[in-house]
Amino acid sequence: MSSDQVSAGQPVRSNGRRLRGILVGCGYISTQQLGAWAQISEVEIVALVDFDENKARHQAERYEIAATYASLGEALDAHDVDFVDIATPPQTHVDLVRSSAEAGVHILCQKPFAPSMKDVDEMVEIADRAGVRLVANENMRFQAWFLKMKQLLDSGEIGRPFYAHWTDRSRWTLPTVTFIDQPYFATMKQLVIYEMGIHFFDTIRYLFGEPLRLAATVGNASREIAGEDNAVVLVSYENLVAIMDISWASIPTYPKADAVSWAVMTIEAEGGTMHLSADGRLRVITDESDTVFEFGPDTIDQSFVGMQRRFVECISSDSDCEMSGREYARSMELVFGSYASAERHEVYRVGEDRNILA
Ligand SMILES: NC(=O)c1ccc[n+]([C@@H]2O[C@H](COP(=O)([O-])OP(=O)(O)OC[C@H]3O[C@@H](n4cnc5c(N)ncnc54)[C@H](O)[C@@H]3O)[C@@H](O)[C@H]2O)c1
Repeated sequence: MSSDQVSAGQPVRSNGRRLRGILVGCGYISTQQLGAWAQISEVEIVALVDFDENKARHQAERYEIAATYASLGEALDAHDVDFVDIATPPQTHVDLVRSSAEAGVHILCQKPFAPSMKDVDEMVEIADRAGVRLVANENMRFQAWFLKMKQLLDSGEIGRPFYAHWTDRSRWTLPTVTFIDQPYFATMKQLVIYEMGIHFFDTIRYLFGEPLRLAATVGNASREIAGEDNAVVLVSYENLVAIMDISWASIPTYPKADAVSWAVMTIEAEGGTMHLSADGRLRVITDESDTVFEFGPDTIDQSFVGMQRRFVECISSDSDCEMSGREYARSMELVFGSYASAERHEVYRVGEDRNILA
């Protein structure tokens, strides 16, 4: 089943009881994930884990979860569960995947998977060896405007796409660094491509399939952060170019404070242009018509519900899952391939150059 056909979820346990999960990492993103689990009746989160038990207790109270722990090991010892939902920073993912796999439970893991291609491959291998499913918690392709774009592309209504442009502008690194929700961004050596670009890469793979080449350039408008705060990546397909253009140093030219979508995207095809604006409106313009689809402010929250439902379907079926760790490693390759391209001032050939990624 493709991700634009996400169903209302299937009963998943043969004995009829709900799937049981542990969520580890009770920081910023846990609110969206726990909010989504609360809407998925097939799942019960039985315990929360965070080094900082105050954070775990806070979320446990808010989402009526009985148990909290300071380590995943303790939680796995205490509960018989079906899966672990990892919502911690990426450098912790390999170890948490290993602990979960050793306990024989399936794994849902936040983006980006890990700081290097080697670690990403290790995560995939650990899960494969243990015979458990590793699924990427990558919500962007589940945002309803992208599901709509995919449907319009697949229907052939606007013909073959040949150009895409995606831009994300935020005023976070200038005039001073103001990463309010995620202060750790300031110390990350790989920043906008790794943290945000991964969403774009996964989404263009969903929309257009596997790209052939990458040409990237990165910049530091701010001198106060460790990683890049702006980047442009040219992604080439046989007959399409997709441009990713991110800056967290810029004053946006589009309304950001009350934005519904966090980025703006244009897709041009032989018979039509689609434009997603920050207010959540998707305009589809053809030679004969001009149609607007409107999406509400809960679209991003709902994309977490869609993604987490897809995880439930993936672990409940024996068939291949498009969100599997092995599939997601292809999106991660585009992240590290972009950094390699920027560093070497060379085009990165997807697949062929994978061996140069550390
Ligand atoms: N999909 C999205 O839109 C989205 C948005 C923001 C963040 N994220 C991703 O979510 C992940 C977490 O980001 P965040 O912003 O919530 O981080 P955060 O720092 O706000 O929260 C992480 C929490 O994990 C805890 N933690 C870290 N390692 C742990 C371990 N080994 N065991 C137990 N607890 C541990 C920390 O104490 C912290 O409370 C990252 O991979 C990030 O990229 C995704």
